[in-house]
Amino acid sequence: MSTEVKLEDIVSLAKRRGFIYQGSDVYGGLSGTWDYGPLGVALKRNIMNLWWQTFVENRDDMYGVDAAILMNQKVWQASGHVDTFADPMVECHKCNARFREDHLDYSKPCANCGERDSFGSPKMFNMMFKTNVGPVDDEASISYLRPETAQGIFTNYKNVVDSFYPDLPFGIAQAGKAFRNEISPRDFVFRSREFEQMEVEYFVHPDKWEEAFEQWRTDIAAFLDQLGLPAEMVEEVEVPENDRAHYSKRTIDYEFAFPHGKDELLGLAYRGSFDLDNIQRVSGRNMEYAVKGSNEKFVPHVIEPSFGVERALMAVLTSAYRTDEQNGEQRIYLALPEHLAPVKYAVSPLLKNKPELVEKAREVYRELKKKYGAVMWDDNGNIGKRYRRQDEIGTPHCVVIDFNTLEDGTVTMRERDTTEQKRTTPEEI
Ligand code: GAP
Repeated sequence: MSTEVKLEDIVSLAKRRGFIYQGSDVYGGLSGTWDYGPLGVALKRNIMNLWWQTFVENRDDMYGVDAAILMNQKVWQASGHVDTFADPMVECHKCNARFREDHLDYSKPCANCGERDSFGSPKMFNMMFKTNVGPVDDEASISYLRPETAQGIFTNYKNVVDSFYPDLPFGIAQAGKAFRNEISPRDFVFRSREFEQMEVEYFVHPDKWEEAFEQWRTDIAAFLDQLGLPAEMVEEVEVPENDRAHYSKRTIDYEFAFPHGKDELLGLAYRGSFDLDNIQRVSGRNMEYAVKGSNEKFVPHVIEPSFGVERALMAVLTSAYRTDEQNGEQRIYLALPEHLAPVKYAVSPLLKNKPELVEKAREVYRELKKKYGAVMWDDNGNIGKRYRRQDEIGTPHCVVIDFNTLEDGTVTMRERDTTEQKRTTPEEI
């Protein structure tokens, strides 16, 4: 069994098997955008649902929100994104291609046109997608596609406090789309222009941020384990002060061993009271938290665990990708944790031209579908081909209805990782 995986292997499997396609593919694509096919959307939802269950439903101190993507431009002025959410960009004089300065090797020719020594001096490039809301195109109508889900949480902090009056510490969670006009999208979905985040803003007493931060490290490690990511593929990297985002007083980047190299999977940041202070200053609304049964009031501090869905999905695919040899042939399979697998059971009649087998298989399929939902009917090609296909999409169990089923009601159940087969009954499944 081998776990070494190249980026092309993941990209090719993702396309071949209906996980992820290039966005607007039929028109030649749109750089930095990706479309999820039937299996990709199922895997993505399973990851997002697991996150929601773990960090919202299974806890007493968490509140979910789903804020609008378009927000008042003051949000992004107050948060500092209008002024500082920018990367240094360098343009090639010959072909006008733009590159992120921190990803550029000046000693090499332009990767787009091959010209040497053609790079200009770096300029800051704001990564927010700007638009206008309503029919009038003026300063007042400017809005942005949100570059992070976090601000939709901060702007609802007061609403949640007023509606629920939670005890500190408590968190507000949101998962959804974020948009960044990345100068150079790269490495498949790793750096996209449209992606999804799963973020929590966890509000704490200013004196208690350190213990909350430590607790989040433990909770994150447990969640990464549920994603099936081996601990040895993840490294916590303490970000030095000069590399931290403008709002952060402490950040740990969780780096994962992606096929393209070690890179950021998620971040855990201590944002202090940066965001609520800014909202208070710009909106004039009081963001203080009044401690129940005392006169103590303060603006809470914030711990932010911020996951990118695409990066989580890429990490899951990377760590699940396996090859081995079966009957002298190379096999590719995804050893996905069962709770993440897009399809839990595939049901097949051994031969599709035998109506009695098909009828019985349909019956078993309907029963399993009622019970598990994520069950696939598969009668394409011979049984070996079906197993290969199901292995590649990470289906843990294949159920085959054969002539014995008609006699004694038992079916063959074949396991993805071991390829072992045993006889069982649909009731036992
Ligand atoms: N609210 C904090 C924040 O947005 P960030 O480090 O800029 O912090 C958080 O982003 C996470 O969002 C990253 O760790 C990554 O998983 C994901 N992310 C950021 N930019 C991305 C991009 N262009 N494509 C895919 N995921 C991205």
